[in-house]
Amino acid sequence: MTVVQLRTADDTREFGRRLAHVLRAGDLVILDGALGAGKTVLAQGIGAGLGVAGDVTSPTFVIARVHRPDPARGRGVPLVHVDAYRLKSLAEVDDLDLDAGLEEAVTVVEWGEGKVERLADAHLTVRLSRHDDDTRTAVVSGVGDDWAGRLRDVDALAAAGGE
Ligand SMILES: Nc1ncnc2c1ncn2[C@@H]1O[C@H](COP(=O)(O)OP(=O)(O)OP(=O)(O)O)[C@@H](O)[C@H]1O
Ligand SMILES: [Mg+2]
Repeated sequence: MTVVQLRTADDTREFGRRLAHVLRAGDLVILDGALGAGKTVLAQGIGAGLGVAGDVTSPTFVIARVHRPDPARGRGVPLVHVDAYRLKSLAEVDDLDLDAGLEEAVTVVEWGEGKVERLADAHLTVRLSRHDDDTRTAVVSGVGDDWAGRLRDVDALAAAGGE
């Protein structure tokens, strides 16, 4: 478990960008946190770090959006960005029938906790909490896979503003 302090929205975006460097096709990332905690801002950073096409915005009304890699700057890995707020179960997530498979994309799910873990053997959870001074704390924890090693390898967390 790693804790990162994020003072501004730009810090959160930058943290996402750095996190993207250790993400690869097949990864499932669950973003948890209350309304306005910064989940979409973090997803924007992940999209920027992966180099995908199109603005990453709140997918609330479409539930899920696939961002294709931008050949000019991307690493060739699409981003699937899901807002599971209205979804009740894994079955409903499966029913979305996304046109980029879990194996080929990095899948980032807002409000996914308790709903999508079983889509993959391993997942990374980022829990964002908002403080009175509008700063955020991110608590990062991985299940399965060598998340600790992967995060350490690139020093992703410390470089993004960790203490
Ligand atoms: N340190 C910070 N990190 C992230 N966002 C911040 C921070 N400080 C201020 N903000 C602002 O808080 C808002 C976060 O909105 P965002 O849409 O990312 O939240 P969300 O968790 O996705 O909400 P929702 O539950 O509605 O999907 C943005 O307007 C952003 O500019
Ligand atoms: Mg959001």
